[in-house]
Amino acid sequence: MQEKFQILDSKTEEAKLGGGEKRIAAQHEKGKLTARERVHFLLDDGSFEEIGMLVTHRSTNFGLDKQKFLGDGVVTGYGTINGRLVYVFAQDFTVLGGSLAEAHAEKICKIMDMAMKNGAPVIGLNDSGGARIQEGVVSLGGYADIFYRNTLASGVIPQLSAIMGPCAGGAVYSPALTDFIMMVENTSYMFVTGPNVVKTVTHEEVSSEELGGASAHSTKSGVTHLTYANEIECINGIKTLLSYMPQNCEEDAPSIPYEASNELREKLNTIVPENANQPYDIKEVIEGTVDDGSFYEIHKDFAENIVVGFARLAGRSIGIVANQPAFLAGVLDIKSSQKGARFVRFCDAFNIPLLVFEDVPGFLPGTDQEWNAIITNGAKLLYAFSEATVPRITVITRKAYGGAYDVMNSKHIGADMNFAWPSAEIAVMGAKGAAEIIFKKEIQEAEDSQAKWQEKEAEYAEMFANPYNAAARGYVDEVIKPEQTREKLIKAFKMLENKVDKLPKKKHGNIPL
Ligand code: HXC
Repeated sequence: MQEKFQILDSKTEEAKLGGGEKRIAAQHEKGKLTARERVHFLLDDGSFEEIGMLVTHRSTNFGLDKQKFLGDGVVTGYGTINGRLVYVFAQDFTVLGGSLAEAHAEKICKIMDMAMKNGAPVIGLNDSGGARIQEGVVSLGGYADIFYRNTLASGVIPQLSAIMGPCAGGAVYSPALTDFIMMVENTSYMFVTGPNVVKTVTHEEVSSEELGGASAHSTKSGVTHLTYANEIECINGIKTLLSYMPQNCEEDAPSIPYEASNELREKLNTIVPENANQPYDIKEVIEGTVDDGSFYEIHKDFAENIVVGFARLAGRSIGIVANQPAFLAGVLDIKSSQKGARFVRFCDAFNIPLLVFEDVPGFLPGTDQEWNAIITNGAKLLYAFSEATVPRITVITRKAYGGAYDVMNSKHIGADMNFAWPSAEIAVMGAKGAAEIIFKKEIQEAEDSQAKWQEKEAEYAEMFANPYNAAARGYVDEVIKPEQTREKLIKAFKMLENKVDKLPKKKHGNIPL
């Protein structure tokens, strides 16, 4: 028997070495951890249970029969993060460049299927040269098997993708189908076609980092939601992100204990400037309202005119969507609508209540916006809010103008509670522009047209540059002082805790894509 045990031990040792000492050293030299090290840092100590450690490929093409590695280039299994079950796969770049083929894909699919049946998140740690070239079409089939499962799992269990090395070609579409993508700066990249193909086709000279590094995808494309300076920070980011989410769409996110106190947050009273044209940082409002230090921003460097992220209010997880007056005056445009809509849909899919802070002057005008379909894209945000059935609350801090008033979680599209600060201005447009249009003739005919314009502007402002017209109609449920915001929200979300709201029976809606 001892001999048999030794066989097992030696196979285990062999599997743990992946592609061997030399390749592990090369991985470290690039500033990267190995797949097993990543899993070790990700999961609670001693909680990892590996599945399929002894799997090998079955290919004999191009000498592959002489290049068999136990595990076939991906470490898969389950474990816990802060005591909660998760499934994980970590591609091992030391084995055939982490390339994906039949057996490698089967291992990933196996844990995805288990995650679906058992209702727990899947975390993918991606580090791969893409489809294993020697295995041909079975590699492509393997990818498609994963894409299919990513899609079926969408909205059922949270799926997180960390990119910790190359991720190229069609391989990018698995992360793209998951809920959140996080990238490590300088050591990871994602693109459909790499610099060489780009050069041949478009004659552009661009490095991998410029084309698809963490910076490009966090600022330009918005493909990645979060970036980190190194892998350990990224792994810690995964843990933090998961702490705001439930295990699956049937459950609520975990709460942390909270001691009730009727706390006024006086600092909120002085954030909105007297002059309505002056910017301020909405993040000060968010941070001043939620549990201390609990705000975790997503998509921080992309479409900064809208801020989205998770936070806790009285210990409970919430999703926040807020216009940012400090960037492009908080206007809604194509990118911010896409960013907001995607976040709203995630929160709704996973029972995370939504809090909206609104200060929006409207949609961004211009040919660029119109020709690139601000209509379709703006409609995404409208659609996402309208179909969200989670508890939804809006706080209008200042401007709520035009169509953007409707879009930003207005009462009319199903928000449960709408608060406004006394500084709120709820109107079709700003008073100056409004006066120019509706009193055009009077202004033109006046002896002093400038004075007339100012007079009419003041008239319009008096009527609409306040929250009271909307409050009189019940579009706003209560006008509150900023300092009361936190406690009002805590009470309202508590009141909405058992909200039940159902969409009409349908196969699925047709969100404007
Ligand atoms: C098989 C691969 C591989 C692949 C890398 N390797 N990519 N083996 N299939 N796709 C192997 C290398 O042969 C090498 O083996 C080891 O992994 C490490 O690779 P290096 O090139 O030495 O590493 P590095 O210099 O860091 O470069 C990494 C890399 C490069 C940029 C990823 O390897 C590369 O360009 N690979 C090919 C990428 C690619 O074109 N993939 C197909 C994309 S198309 P040894 O034995 O020497 O250690 C695609 C379609 C998916 O993925 C479609 C889904 C729908």
